[in-house]
Amino acid sequence: MEAFYLTTPIYYANDLPHIGHAYTTIAADSIARYQRQQGREVFLLTGTDEHGVNIERIAARNGGSATDHVDRIANSFKQLWQQLDIGYDRFIRTTEPAHHRAALALWQRLQDSDDLYRGTYTGAYCAKCEAYYQPDELVDGACPVHASPCDVVSEENWFFRLSHYQDALERLVRDTPFVQPESRRNEVLAVIRQGLRDFSVSRRNVRWGVPVPDSSDEVIYVWVDALANYLTGVGYPGDGACFERWWPAQLHLVGKEIIRFHCLYWPALLLSAGLPLPKQVFAHGWLTKDGQKISKSTGNTINPFALVDEFGSDAVRYYLLRNVAFGQDGDFTRRGFVDRYNAELANGFGNLVQRVTSLASRYGVCRSETDGALSDAAASAHSRQARAFGDLALHEAVAAADDFVRDVNRYLQVASPWDLARNGQVQQVQAVLAEAVKGARVAAELYAPIIPRAAAEASRRLADGPEVGEPLFPRVRVDNSLLV
Ligand code: ME8
Ligand code: MG
Repeated sequence: MEAFYLTTPIYYANDLPHIGHAYTTIAADSIARYQRQQGREVFLLTGTDEHGVNIERIAARNGGSATDHVDRIANSFKQLWQQLDIGYDRFIRTTEPAHHRAALALWQRLQDSDDLYRGTYTGAYCAKCEAYYQPDELVDGACPVHASPCDVVSEENWFFRLSHYQDALERLVRDTPFVQPESRRNEVLAVIRQGLRDFSVSRRNVRWGVPVPDSSDEVIYVWVDALANYLTGVGYPGDGACFERWWPAQLHLVGKEIIRFHCLYWPALLLSAGLPLPKQVFAHGWLTKDGQKISKSTGNTINPFALVDEFGSDAVRYYLLRNVAFGQDGDFTRRGFVDRYNAELANGFGNLVQRVTSLASRYGVCRSETDGALSDAAASAHSRQARAFGDLALHEAVAAADDFVRDVNRYLQVASPWDLARNGQVQQVQAVLAEAVKGARVAAELYAPIIPRAAAEASRRLADGPEVGEPLFPRVRVDNSLLV
């Protein structure tokens, strides 16, 4: 059976998770669920990135130990994933001993390839990005991602010969679908064509990390440490069978601000280490609020725990996957959230299940035959969704389900079982309802990767003798004062 290994970024254990982290993880989970539904064996990896100077500083500022700090944050991520029904196969933490072994094994391979050398770096460093910036990359002298001032550092440490991989990376990005979507591929190609500079892969003034072998006062650069998690997650280096089974990854899902690390550094490190390359990095866009990236440093975060409490996990999953074309930026608004919830979940799938189960329990369903009126629509919804998941057009995968719900509703409208019932045409009523129940089951299948809770409950209610229950998505009252 085909193995499908996919990953999310490992999120910094500096602060509690926000809606942006939920976004990538929900997207990954919906892909994983879809692939499992198609019979593939899937491994979904997520976790936390726990080292580096930024976390070291934040923990110190809070007056506690770094260990206590990252334990607390990692737990809150796990708790959020549970509430959002994320079915990950492993939650990795870079402070695990197993991960230290993997980071060191990778380091050893880089050294064996003669790609590490001593050098000195002087320049700007953004602790929040954990990245150096060249003068021409700064925006008004500040970090291009966080718009905050950078540290100025100067130190001797280990460098990696990224420049050796210039041609290999250009071929990889230009000639294969390694970087998606297209806009991001072009962005990465432009960076490669400017000429790649070697980058430093160890730090002397940081204690909180994986110590560099034989250099007691240096730790491995946090991005090299973090990227290695994708290997650790599937057993590298100790569990060869597991690693063989899953590596290379089919897909690294990331936000667009970290493409340099995933599309340049990571494949170069793997080439140097003599390990196979992942098949694809897909960089999605940003959730914004009033056009500004949602982030801890901007201070405009949205608390996903509160949203789940208020609307349920399916509603959050649905909105994030449906609202914007996957790959592009999209503004999060409470009004948009409530509007979609009411129009598409409450009035759409929720209402369909309610309608079909109440009609079926009232009039009964024919067991033997249906008119097959929805067969073509069902088949084309399935193939549309397959194409969408294949292209990672996740919004389109949801739209395929939404549109099929409309097909079933239209079928009911036209076949009008309530009129047939009034005319005493019992057999015809039951045949129509059998087709409608079948249609609603197909809708539940199409929604299973997206809104797993409601889909499972709908499938249960529609299973044998249709059973009427509470509305799956009770309508939310729109209170204008709350919708700013
Ligand atoms: O970068 N919109 O961790 P991080 C969409 N530890 N996605 C968002 C988002 C937003 N407004 N905000 C965050 C790191 N994300 C590193 C990764 S991987 C080897 C190491 C999501 O805590 C998106 O996936 O800053 C983004 O790339 C990630 O969270 C950044 O999380
Ligand atoms: Mg970040």
